[in-house]
Amino acid sequence: MSVFTGLRCAMCKTEFPAKALYVCDQCLGPLEACYDYEAVRTTLTRDAIAARPQNLWRYRELLPIEGEPRTGLHSGCTPLVRAERLARELGVAELYIKDDSVNHPSLSYKDRVVPVAATRAIELGFDTFGCASTGNLGNSVAAHAARLGLTCYVFIPQSLEPGKIVGSSVSAPHVVGIDGNYDDVNRLCTQVGDRYGWAFANINLRSYYAEGAKTYGFEIVEQLGWRYPQHVVSPVAGGTLLPRIGRAFRELREVGLASGDLPRIHAAQAAGCSPIIDALESGATHPEPVKPNTIAKSIAIGNPADGYQVLETVRRTGGAGARATDPEILDAIGLLARTEGIFTEPAGGTTLAATINLLNAGTIPRDESIVVCVTGNGYKTSNVMTDQLRKPTRLGRSLREFEAFLADHSTQPVQG
Ligand SMILES: Cc1ncc(COP(=O)(O)O)c(C=O)c1O
Repeated sequence: MSVFTGLRCAMCKTEFPAKALYVCDQCLGPLEACYDYEAVRTTLTRDAIAARPQNLWRYRELLPIEGEPRTGLHSGCTPLVRAERLARELGVAELYIKDDSVNHPSLSYKDRVVPVAATRAIELGFDTFGCASTGNLGNSVAAHAARLGLTCYVFIPQSLEPGKIVGSSVSAPHVVGIDGNYDDVNRLCTQVGDRYGWAFANINLRSYYAEGAKTYGFEIVEQLGWRYPQHVVSPVAGGTLLPRIGRAFRELREVGLASGDLPRIHAAQAAGCSPIIDALESGATHPEPVKPNTIAKSIAIGNPADGYQVLETVRRTGGAGARATDPEILDAIGLLARTEGIFTEPAGGTTLAATINLLNAGTIPRDESIVVCVTGNGYKTSNVMTDQLRKPTRLGRSLREFEAFLADHSTQPVQG
């Protein structure tokens, strides 16, 4: 059922065979997977998709593998939550959270891209699988490599949150903490990949890895009853997710699964690391690298690998960009949990805070349908919230003490 036909440079459009790695030898542009859309039309129908298991491989004709999926059989198909209480609080008509904070097995959107890269790593004959990570990718690479029995190296900046480090270490890969920021880690991994012939999910396997992110966009449309929303707000770090959501929307139209106007796709970044928003404001076609300084460590990438595609997608779809300050990020994490019971990490806080800023600026009209991309789980980064929250009430064991506490707080006990 493979209709993956090869790779093409996103910039100069030169074509490459299916087994090529990630950059164009003509212009150094990134390579993108190509498919035979006519063939896809005949097998990937709404009925066929509905009959398939609830995992990301239900869209496998539009994923760049040649054989059978090797992992990710429980990844993807996360909830699209209609956020009524949050919508009321923000004064908007139709609001959804696409909730990858509960993605299997490592609780972030990275469990979509890693199964595709890992499957491809095996197809291409690699035995060592690794990544340069801001935390979540390392968690996912370590988990899927463990399942597949691959030798695994996770490279991270030393300053990551403890929950993210444990989340990788527990699967027993080699975890290498580098004295530097993510961009330093990425540069080192590019050299290691070349020298040792190892597969790095987000570097030399990036053309395959990135395609897994399309499943986030496919699911949004399927879960809305094969209807496009009017706005999607996506976080941006390396720039994998946002352009692939856009590509997914276009491909659904191309293969006849959806019709109508394509959504406007907006970029969300932390104010302490916003090279994409800077470029949107200055009109540049490529982002200027910045030095990150934000609590949103998972999206603290100052030199986004796919910055060109992010800018192109935002502009083509009529989207915009917004920054969120660290205090706004923390407030938004609290707001989402208080209204919808979803505990996200700072990347999700950034996306919601940026959405609020876009609403307040009038860029997103309050009466249009909006999907906010929540891509990571707050339990991994609970340290950032400890100073924000009321301390738990501490009482002795007696009912009398509890009733004294209730009286103090002028709350009436519920009658039995
Ligand atoms: C939770 C989370 N959300 C979003 C992103 C955005 O990544 P990208 O722009 O590379 O798709 C990351 C990246 O590491 C992440 O960890």
